[in-house]
Amino acid sequence: MQRRDLLRLLASAGATPLLAPFTTQAAELDTWQADFEASTAPWKLGFATPPSDLPLTPATVHGRFPDALAGTLYRIGPAGHDLGGERYHHWFDGDGMVQRFVIEGTQVRHQGRYVATPKRVAELRAGRRLTEAFGTVPPDASPPTSADSMNVANTSVLLVQQGEVLALWEGGSATRLDARTLETLGVKRWHADLDGMPFSAHPKVDPDGTVWNFGVSASQSLLALYEIAPEGPLRRAAVVPVAELPMVHDFAVTTRHLVFLMPPLVYDKARKQAGASFLDAHVWRPELGMRALVIDKKDWSKRQSFQLPAGFLFHVGNAWEETQVSGGTQIHIDYVRSDNASSVFTTNRELMRGRRVVSAEPHLAVATLNLATGQATQEVLALEAEFPRIDPRRVGLRHRSVVHATQLADGRPGFCAIAHTNVETGRSQRFVYGKQAMVEEHVFVPDGKGPGWILGTALDLAQRRTVLSCFAADQLAAGPVAQATLPHALPLGLHGSFVPA
Ligand SMILES: [Fe+2]
Repeated sequence: MQRRDLLRLLASAGATPLLAPFTTQAAELDTWQADFEASTAPWKLGFATPPSDLPLTPATVHGRFPDALAGTLYRIGPAGHDLGGERYHHWFDGDGMVQRFVIEGTQVRHQGRYVATPKRVAELRAGRRLTEAFGTVPPDASPPTSADSMNVANTSVLLVQQGEVLALWEGGSATRLDARTLETLGVKRWHADLDGMPFSAHPKVDPDGTVWNFGVSASQSLLALYEIAPEGPLRRAAVVPVAELPMVHDFAVTTRHLVFLMPPLVYDKARKQAGASFLDAHVWRPELGMRALVIDKKDWSKRQSFQLPAGFLFHVGNAWEETQVSGGTQIHIDYVRSDNASSVFTTNRELMRGRRVVSAEPHLAVATLNLATGQATQEVLALEAEFPRIDPRRVGLRHRSVVHATQLADGRPGFCAIAHTNVETGRSQRFVYGKQAMVEEHVFVPDGKGPGWILGTALDLAQRRTVLSCFAADQLAAGPVAQATLPHALPLGLHGSFVPA
């Protein structure tokens, strides 16, 4: 099949799982909204729905944010969880709200704005959910007409060019936002052939600015690949058939390869046709193991597969490759591994009704893929982890250290601490925010003059406020050098990106 035909197939296939024969959930009494309201769990604050956009507001700042942090931290996450008295059944379903923290020394201002996706606009107008979401099939929802008709733009952000930020989802198009006002400008069109194609929320940016990304069409078992030039235009896109292509949320690049870790969480059309949500149409099939797929960056037809023990992941830290004495190549990739997918099926669902369910613990892991022998090995570190981030200048290169959330909280969801870990030695230092804090993703911000900075947010449940903190990257345990406290709590978000002024 020619590339163009494949692209057409995938563009239409983007909608296929949604257009499959559709059965609404049985009209049973849905108590999720009432359950959430009745919950006395303090942590439910992080999953409440802000009734409207959050206007630009100054924070109270202690200390001074270093000059290297003069700029804007963009963050995004699910925020619109309920509408018309009905509440979504999964954290990942909610309408995206994009945040910006504008940092200037002793001043920090914050703004939050819902992404005005076609789905959100239509549902607000109707006063109820019209279309199914990742983990929820609302009663009386109509079948979606395309992947983008269920796009909630809630997962990550990417600055593509001055003045524009992309709000990313993974099942459909990126959404363009004005970087200064956060106003929604419309869907991103890379090419007319690619409208509505899946574009993942974890693109990787090479040190030269080249952007690599992928997308998964679960129903067609096709993997879309994208190469985007530093100045913005699409260089290449194609689709690659992958047998039993599972849910893939993140990937890695090296200098010469694209690297995918594929947990055995595979889409089953029959389940979808029986009325399951997109998430519940996936089946955990540990007999498949964790497959790794390595694709040559220059020639996407050159691919090699590897086998690791079964496990689940959302996130990858980084990958890099080394040439061995023998002349062969070995790829190192670090990621956050769990024994199974209970977090996505259960934990991140039940918290939407104020219930905490413990899932398999996520740990930092390092895998090695030997391209010469085809062998793969894995080492799991004794470190709880999520939201791994590295120095953005080291993407695809040997990076050594990873910033990540750590220390699972007792008695509630989420993490209490932020860590900076050397994945080669296992040495790790951390700052413990405390039992009252829900720690979100922290990013590494380089500083040409020194070891750099760690910047991120936490929801302080005691104060009922969100706090932005900055740490010296080499003295994380010493605590923040500057903190900005907002006058209110923000909904817990997923990913962000810092853009210097
Ligand atoms: Fe993610």
